[in-house]
Amino acid sequence: MASDLVLGVDSSTQSTKALLVDASTGEVVAQQSARHPDGTAVDPRAWLDAFDQATDGLVDRASAVAVGGQQHGMVALDDSDEPVHDAILWNDTRSSAEARDLIDEMGGPDACAETIGSVLVASFTSTKLRWLRDHEPDAAGRTRRVLLPHDYVSRHVAGGEPFTDRGDASGTGYFSTGEDDWLPDLAEAAIGHSVELPRIVASSEAAARTASGLVVGAGTGDNMAAALALDLGPGDVVVSIGTSGVASAISESRIADGTGSVTGFADATGRFLPMATTMNAARILDLQARLLGVDHGELGRLALAAPPGAHGLTIVPYYDGERTPNLPEANGTWSGLTSSTTREDLARAAFEALLCSLSDGVDHLAAKTGVTPRRILMVGGAAANPAVHAIAPAIFGMPVTVPAPGEYVALGAARQAAWALGGTSGPPTWDSARSETYEAAPTPLVREAYARLRDRTIPWSTSTTPSQK
Ligand code: XUL
Repeated sequence: MASDLVLGVDSSTQSTKALLVDASTGEVVAQQSARHPDGTAVDPRAWLDAFDQATDGLVDRASAVAVGGQQHGMVALDDSDEPVHDAILWNDTRSSAEARDLIDEMGGPDACAETIGSVLVASFTSTKLRWLRDHEPDAAGRTRRVLLPHDYVSRHVAGGEPFTDRGDASGTGYFSTGEDDWLPDLAEAAIGHSVELPRIVASSEAAARTASGLVVGAGTGDNMAAALALDLGPGDVVVSIGTSGVASAISESRIADGTGSVTGFADATGRFLPMATTMNAARILDLQARLLGVDHGELGRLALAAPPGAHGLTIVPYYDGERTPNLPEANGTWSGLTSSTTREDLARAAFEALLCSLSDGVDHLAAKTGVTPRRILMVGGAAANPAVHAIAPAIFGMPVTVPAPGEYVALGAARQAAWALGGTSGPPTWDSARSETYEAAPTPLVREAYARLRDRTIPWSTSTTPSQK
């Protein structure tokens, strides 16, 4: 008898990706995608159109579906469940002052981390609700319920009352990772009146069943879904290079880092997913490729033709503001340009900047969780670039394992859908992806040069949280 097919969906910042997967083996049998509009504030109805397009012809073949989505985005809905405002996304920094106000109201960074597991930055949903209250009072006043991007898309499939999961909920700023439940008073304090929040559903449960019998899983945040796909073990650190750069690891215990360098999110399995996130990742390479008039493949070839350290050219890549460190108003710094600087140096410096910034994230994670990285798994579009294979192990100072290129967020969502379909206590066991491990001689001098420039250019006095000064 043919086994069930499950549909995993990644509603990411840039597009919707859908994978139809064999529920018993994890084999991908079909995949499609559809683009999202650009920008850091987007009409969320565009994601529903993208979902319909990306899942067309696949959803009818599936027995279950689950949606992974970009974390944190604010989807504020009125009495008719229509958006009162464009969804404000995780990478929109307009609410950085509001983040500082909310931290103060909660009693400072340590108290904030103790309450919600993280120190608020502009990415968190609550800061966007406060921004709405103060800048768009009419829209704020009409807001009856607040959803996350993945909840909004799941609801489109399932109908009925909306639902979410603890992983994505832990990035809102009004969820307690200690109590594993909403803190509705904090949502109310942010927007100025009480709002309806979605029901929290476990990954093992069917959150809904449609009239046609399709089981809808809880869904989760994209990073939690990727962790589910990669089946992380102790000491595994995932470094993801997408629109955001992420270093994350599974933890059995709750993290509350009052310095704010690590966010103590919940995961989709009942454990925790501490994470250091940067806002500048793939775009560091995008910018350099654009400036040099090449694609990413050629950028990688150029980078590999330059020596480590790019003849002294160092970039601190906080181009559009940064989140780790928390510098929402920062921009990028280039240092060490000479009249002999080559295109190859410019390409190499971009890869080194990206990887040094991520390496800082891995260090924060190790320091705050006490976990010594045993293995670095690198995923995301840029993880396929041969320059990353060569330069990442040199910068991280340890081997880097790259699973076969794939849509790991959508695959994790598919695994969650299969879990909900089976109703078992744990997720189904799927064959892990083939992977390659890359090694290189460490280049500590490159990280030292980066750290010197980073520490020289950070405008500590203007935009950091108090504990980072
Ligand atoms: C994590 C974060 C990003 C988004 C990207 O906290 O904000 O990784 O989830 O989609």
